[in-house]
Amino acid sequence: MSTTATPAMKVPDVKTAAELARQPEEYRVAVEKIVVSHAVNELYGAQVFDEPAIKLAPTPYAKWLTCRVAMEEYHHHVRFKALADEIGIRAQRMDPQHKRPLSIFGFELRTWPEFCVIKAIADYAEILQVEDLLHCSFHPLRNLARVTMPEEKFHAKFGKDFCLELIKQGKAPEVQDAIDRYFPITPGFFGANHSKNNEIYRNWGLKQRTNEEMRQDFLMRVTELVEKDFGLRLPVLN
Ligand SMILES: [Fe+2]
Ligand SMILES: [Fe+2]
Repeated sequence: MSTTATPAMKVPDVKTAAELARQPEEYRVAVEKIVVSHAVNELYGAQVFDEPAIKLAPTPYAKWLTCRVAMEEYHHHVRFKALADEIGIRAQRMDPQHKRPLSIFGFELRTWPEFCVIKAIADYAEILQVEDLLHCSFHPLRNLARVTMPEEKFHAKFGKDFCLELIKQGKAPEVQDAIDRYFPITPGFFGANHSKNNEIYRNWGLKQRTNEEMRQDFLMRVTELVEKDFGLRLPVLN
């Protein structure tokens, strides 16, 4: 029978995979869900956005940096997959063909400005997710978040810098068009309001914030990026 954590109970400090095996079922299942979700989404994002973008990048310099982004995103998958293997998760659970990736990756990438917008916005969303794991009660996840964070920050900055360059080159309409089409699918990335999974993650000290809090933070920061830094408009969400 699983033990349900309540906010009043002491959250564990779990330092290794071996210690994880001794935790209550609810804790182990919650850790597995987080690890699987990161492993699948890092892989799928690398396959549908980062690797194809190398071809779309307009200059050797942009191609070089895009290669770096693609390499790092594949590496994020490799790291989460290695942790998954260590804690005994079946490989099939991390295969994007079996586990459906998030809708944020459902966008069909066709142009370089679209890729720059995706990196500026979606990787910012990813930063918030990784940030939430920095104090995770399962230390191997906390450690993964700490090594991944500087790279996610580089990806978001890559997107912002190339968007600014496009705007300077007179391509603001293309950046605006990509924002108009991509931004509306991003708030769903943070999951449902009042999510039961999120409540379990917080009760066990695996995550810190509610989905609503993260989404609000994201919307505030993206509004600032698009309106203040880019001088463009954020489409109104329905
Ligand atoms: Fe990543
Ligand atoms: Fe990234």
